[in-house]
Amino acid sequence: MTYLTYTSYIFLVLAIVSVAGGVADKPNSGISKKAFGRMADGTTIDLYTLTNNQGMRVAITNYGGIAVSILVPDRNGKPGDVALGFDNLEGYLAKEPYFGALIGRYGNRIGNARFKLHGVEYKLPANNGPNSLHGGLQGFDKRVWTAREIRSEHPALELTYLSKDGEEGYPGNLNAKVVYSLTEDNALRIDYTATTDKDTVLNLTNHSYFNLAGEGSGDILKQEIMINADRFTPIDSTLIPTGELREVDNTPFDFRKPASIGARIDADDEQIKFGKGCDHNFVLNRSGAGLSLAARVTDPGSGRVLEVLTTQPGLQFYTGNFLDGSIHGKGSKSYGRRSAFCLETQHFPDSPNKPSFPSTVLKPGETFRGSTVFKFSISK
Ligand code: GLA
Repeated sequence: MTYLTYTSYIFLVLAIVSVAGGVADKPNSGISKKAFGRMADGTTIDLYTLTNNQGMRVAITNYGGIAVSILVPDRNGKPGDVALGFDNLEGYLAKEPYFGALIGRYGNRIGNARFKLHGVEYKLPANNGPNSLHGGLQGFDKRVWTAREIRSEHPALELTYLSKDGEEGYPGNLNAKVVYSLTEDNALRIDYTATTDKDTVLNLTNHSYFNLAGEGSGDILKQEIMINADRFTPIDSTLIPTGELREVDNTPFDFRKPASIGARIDADDEQIKFGKGCDHNFVLNRSGAGLSLAARVTDPGSGRVLEVLTTQPGLQFYTGNFLDGSIHGKGSKSYGRRSAFCLETQHFPDSPNKPSFPSTVLKPGETFRGSTVFKFSISK
């Protein structure tokens, strides 16, 4: 070996060692894909797993854009799955309460399953008493999305879906795009965009059911919540907002200082009775148009903390009041009443019928943009 080739050889070895070292620094970060099941018509459904280097792992399926599992370390570094759901696609194809799903075209309720836009009345499927809930009979949670893996700075999954003009009663061909990404500060970020070719209404969210102590580990009543809202939207007995924006002061809905979820959940209060607990939209205190802190939940047992940041004006805090133990989720664990909470970032329910609420109308030529971050950490 001449001196020159010897030197180049050493450089080559050093280069390989440093690349391998770089990889070794990031042993887990990335995205992987495996089969999750088949639809009745044979369409194959996949499960994508986003992994970071801090011990967090999030699995998402292109069926309903569902976040199937969210693994987060506890204060001892032990990972636990904080999201209710199922081990396989069959669980999600049966009747289930939107575990982890993307919700559209309109998240939460539209009163009397109808709304008017420019004087034209649109009739929607009534799938929740007299009202239309979470986009109708076959909302975005029950659609097959087109998935594309993104390997950039952070592992990410892009999901797209074309909701055709007239689907579930809504006007306009709506192109929806949702990008889930997992960052090194243990944040699961969801970016939503949408365009339409006719005026329509839109309210996109994610319906993850969280239990910071781990899914299937009992109720969430001792977990503590702070919601950054001075006001909420009171509801009628069918859970449709009355239109009022009510101060939370002196109500069971004052979470401006952290309180255990269970503290006032059975208070002798008409609103609590209507919701069978908490199932209400909060008017978030916002500063500017960017991401701002909506809520923080802490589990004293595991030490896990979840912070929710969003660009959206509202937050549905739902305490799993309709879970009744009849659903058996992952590992056949039974999901009892209040064994999870949802923090659905959103526009206010029934906005299409409430002109005083922030508008949910999307017009051709405009792009709807919304972002929500679920950031996990450990309490000091
Ligand atoms: C939302 C609603 C609840 C309930 C759940 C799904 O959070 O506000 O009333 O319908 O979805 O079960």
